[in-house]
Amino acid sequence: MKSCMVQGAKIVSTGSAIPSVKVSNEQMSSIVDTSDEWIFTRTGIKERRLLTAYGQSVTDLATKAALKAIKNISIDPSSIDLIILATSSPNDLFGSASKIQYQVGAVNAVAFDLTAACSGFVIGIVTAFQFISNGTYDNILVIGADVLSKWVDWSDRGTCILFGDAAGAVIIQSCNPNFNSILSFHLNTDGNYADYLSIAYKEQLNPHPILNLYQGSFKHISMNGKEVYKFAVSQVPLSIISCLNKIDMSIEDVDWLLLHQANERILMAVAEKLSISTHKIISNLSKYGNTSAASIPLALDEVVQLNKISRNDIIVIAGFGAGLTWGTIVLRW
Ligand code: COA
Repeated sequence: MKSCMVQGAKIVSTGSAIPSVKVSNEQMSSIVDTSDEWIFTRTGIKERRLLTAYGQSVTDLATKAALKAIKNISIDPSSIDLIILATSSPNDLFGSASKIQYQVGAVNAVAFDLTAACSGFVIGIVTAFQFISNGTYDNILVIGADVLSKWVDWSDRGTCILFGDAAGAVIIQSCNPNFNSILSFHLNTDGNYADYLSIAYKEQLNPHPILNLYQGSFKHISMNGKEVYKFAVSQVPLSIISCLNKIDMSIEDVDWLLLHQANERILMAVAEKLSISTHKIISNLSKYGNTSAASIPLALDEVVQLNKISRNDIIVIAGFGAGLTWGTIVLRW
């Protein structure tokens, strides 16, 4: 990371929101041909939360998470300069962030959506960091929120058992560069494998009779599970190591490993490759499944509320998913 930092950045607050409806693996087995044993041994997931209420969308969950983060440090919403909503399940393709800006009363904030699937929150934090470190903004709300239950094919047992709905939010504030807490980041994309995990736009077979153009709609999540697994387990450790190398840190310096909560087997395989002790792994996916862009801020908020993280702890955060995209951030708490 080239250093041209005018100000440092630090996460000063977290918040999260989950839907009230819990769906266990046993309940999943009444929807598709599966079992608690199959799901738990392959993924570590026991249950997930689903946003089932009519008319509720990602905006509602994201707003709740954002309001909690705002309340936790009693910041005046009008002092928020920017809102970044990382989501791949907006309820408006023109963007959902502006509705959140209105609902949280952040009247002076510019707001936009960022689409990068399960890496969205990590890329959102890095984007916010750019605006803070170059001196443009002082208070940024970054939200990771997804309701993939609306995009899952509920007859596809290979994917529907994996995902859940949630939102998580953080407030990042400017600080003296000496107290900067975002120490390093490393981001990657490989579009060659975009088809491994996608919600593709499918055109209808017949074009418009006069204009001869094709319209269509978005279909369901499709995934090549084995390839996504191999990608995560091979690329995430490399990303983490290069991110640590940039700041002359090693795995021994790391206090917490917070990976995108996709699958317990992926978490364990990455930890094994890095030779990092399993008690340093933050994991809550047994309760929520894969909540996409929400998974990292949801887990972060949980450990912060439980006072598990101490001041100056080094946290390695890594996201990975559709795109394919992946990225790491090293934080000093
Ligand atoms: N319940 C029971 N059986 C299931 C099942 C389910 N929910 N889903 C698939 N199966 C079956 C398959 O049909 C297949 O049966 P067959 O051998 O008779 O054909 C068998 O289980 C094995 O399927 P496979 O897809 O090879 O399983 P797997 O061991 O690769 O595990 C995943 C599947 C999805 C758990 C695994 O590939 C994975 O975790 N991938 C990463 C996914 C991920 O994290 N995606 C998000 C990244 S952000």
